[in-house]
Amino acid sequence: MHAEHREQWGTRAGFLLAAIGSAVGLGNIWRFPYVAYQNGGGAFLLPYLAALLTAGIPLLILEYTIGHRYRSTPPTAFLRLSRPAQAIGWWQVVICFVIAAYYAVIIAWSIRYTGYSFDRAWGDDPEGFLFGDFLQAADGPTMDLSYVGGVLVPLIAVWVITLAVLAVGVRRGIERLNKIFIPTLVVLFLALVVRALTLPGAVDGLNAFFSPDWSAINDGSVWVAAYGQIFFSLSIGFGIMITYSSYLRRRSDLSGSALVAGFANSSFELLAGIGVFATIGFMAANAGIPVDELATSGIGLAFVAFPQIISSMPAGELFGVLFFLSLSIAGLTSLISIVQVIVGSVADRTGLRRVPAVLIVGGFTALVSIVLFPTTGGLYLLDVVDRFINQYGIVVAALVAVITVSWFTRRLKPLAAHANATSAVQLGVLWRVTLGIVTPLVLGWMMWDSLQTELSENYEDYPSSFLLGAGWGVALGALVLGIVLSLLPWRRGQQSSESHQEVQS
Ligand code: ALA
Repeated sequence: MHAEHREQWGTRAGFLLAAIGSAVGLGNIWRFPYVAYQNGGGAFLLPYLAALLTAGIPLLILEYTIGHRYRSTPPTAFLRLSRPAQAIGWWQVVICFVIAAYYAVIIAWSIRYTGYSFDRAWGDDPEGFLFGDFLQAADGPTMDLSYVGGVLVPLIAVWVITLAVLAVGVRRGIERLNKIFIPTLVVLFLALVVRALTLPGAVDGLNAFFSPDWSAINDGSVWVAAYGQIFFSLSIGFGIMITYSSYLRRRSDLSGSALVAGFANSSFELLAGIGVFATIGFMAANAGIPVDELATSGIGLAFVAFPQIISSMPAGELFGVLFFLSLSIAGLTSLISIVQVIVGSVADRTGLRRVPAVLIVGGFTALVSIVLFPTTGGLYLLDVVDRFINQYGIVVAALVAVITVSWFTRRLKPLAAHANATSAVQLGVLWRVTLGIVTPLVLGWMMWDSLQTELSENYEDYPSSFLLGAGWGVALGALVLGIVLSLLPWRRGQQSSESHQEVQS
């Protein structure tokens, strides 16, 4: 093996903060409350918890172990597991590319809304303001590339910050930033939730959020949504945790770290659901209407409901700044981890140094994001790409990865032994049964059920041609591109799993 000088985290706390920074993101604050609400409210918490325990935590441990064991980003790590499995690694890299492209846009919206909070720029019609004045959204999906300056400018800023942090490096860039941002985020967000809970009507919002619609439990797509949410939120299934743990020192507590990061993430997610719905309860009480009439706006929930609330509460400006700043910070630390997968993977396979890799690969991702999304049709594209890449990209890639590791390469036992050698919590038969049997069965069944619904009705009634191109096209394209990339003659990392083991032992 080539003499490797791999970057490393400075401390365990630094790694944990970065892993939590990656996990806690838009998925927790922007996505979880509306996904939970759309999928049965309190009843959603059951599939959510099942997803966390049967797939989330076990997979998180698996990804930490793979990254640490093979000390590389997904394509090389999977290659070392078995040569054809390299395609899974590249598939995850392409998924990260797709997610990064639209994820950055939502951070750009939040940064803009942090500024708008100061003078409540949305006036008394936040919905009209969001879709009209701010996003200038077309009436329906369009590929017309008319740019919207209000989104374009903050989006460029988001990309400049992200690439700059990555260029500085894992320890001096990513770790340092998270050490400042994550404690700041916790303080800001706690202040926000405390304030929200003291608002009149908060209890009605919480009742709406937690009251279960049990009929949802029988719907396969609700379960897929729960697993999709857990994967997205924990940053698993798309290679981030493999990448981050590849920078760990040899003696690292893998399963303990996964448990800490996993439960920290879900606690934050629940906190966000409580904060958001307490606030919506206040708004409903103010307007004298039931909560469910307010909480229907899907991806607009944060950007429509919050401005309305900010306008109607005392010192709303401060509340708005707390919320949108939290969203921006949480989003940035996650975006950085997503782009690091792409940059690190190409660097690992080509031998490119960090800065050129960031400029070329990160720069290309930024370019695609900037060309496609800050447009009048960008909102629709974002909505469909987010839905399909989550349900049919991340979840399917996770399913294939789990089956490959546990059945085709039969590596669960050696990987457990690897983790156990340095970890506080020992992995036993339960972990192997969960990953090898429960996760594949549940994911496979759910995928089948959800596909049937998907094929019988058009998501959000979008035209079929649009769903085919932006939805199925992107999700399947990620897989095909992953396979193509795995067939290219890369310069580095070609050694087989056997020779790698020799080097390791
Ligand atoms: N895990 C990140 C989030 O929740 C991607 O937003």
